[in-house]
Amino acid sequence: MKFFIDTANLEELYKAKSLGLLNGVTTNPSLISKESIFSKKEIENHYISICNLLENEEDLSAEVISTNYDDIIKEGKKLSFLHSKIVVKIPINEDGIKAIKYFYKKKIKTNCTLIFSTGQAILAAKAGANYVSPFMGRLDDISHNGLNLIKEIKNIYDKYSFNTKILAASIRSPLHIIECAKIGIYAITSPLNVILSLFNHPLTNIGLEKFLKDYKNKIH
Ligand code: G3P
Repeated sequence: MKFFIDTANLEELYKAKSLGLLNGVTTNPSLISKESIFSKKEIENHYISICNLLENEEDLSAEVISTNYDDIIKEGKKLSFLHSKIVVKIPINEDGIKAIKYFYKKKIKTNCTLIFSTGQAILAAKAGANYVSPFMGRLDDISHNGLNLIKEIKNIYDKYSFNTKILAASIRSPLHIIECAKIGIYAITSPLNVILSLFNHPLTNIGLEKFLKDYKNKIH
């Protein structure tokens, strides 16, 4: 299972990489707005810095802020020319799907985002998206089962052998990651702190403390 980090923060990415926990990166306009970036040029440079971190790792999904077809194409092309590791992230809607189809023909990679239903995921796959990003946490937030959506998408994609990879997004807890792993999801994209919470178990801490205490009591 691949671990993509859902952040635009370089320090978090360095840390993930140093732990061997970085397989790729996803960002969105809200994540970009959290960084000290104040112009379009700075955003482009920031994307290039993230891509330069990705050596053997996969890619960076950079989201368009355009909402109509012509502008999505223009913006998406510009993003993809910045670096070979950039995947153009495009929200699901009619213009978005048309743009994904266009980029598919041009061999430019896309990630279809803001997926909240199985039908949307089918449309993304049929258009030729390389990734689809269903939002687990935001569905759970409104008392819908995010995991059920992921399971349904996987089931349908497997049946039709769609090439679109599932990138489970809006990850909020270690259980989201484990449940995705149990059903063989290609990748999750998560804030680093949720991935780091996979390390935690109270019996590990208690066990380590006892091992060290026993050793120190005997060995001088
Ligand atoms: O990048 C898309 C997605 O992962 C957003 O997550 O936590 O804002 O719902 P969240």
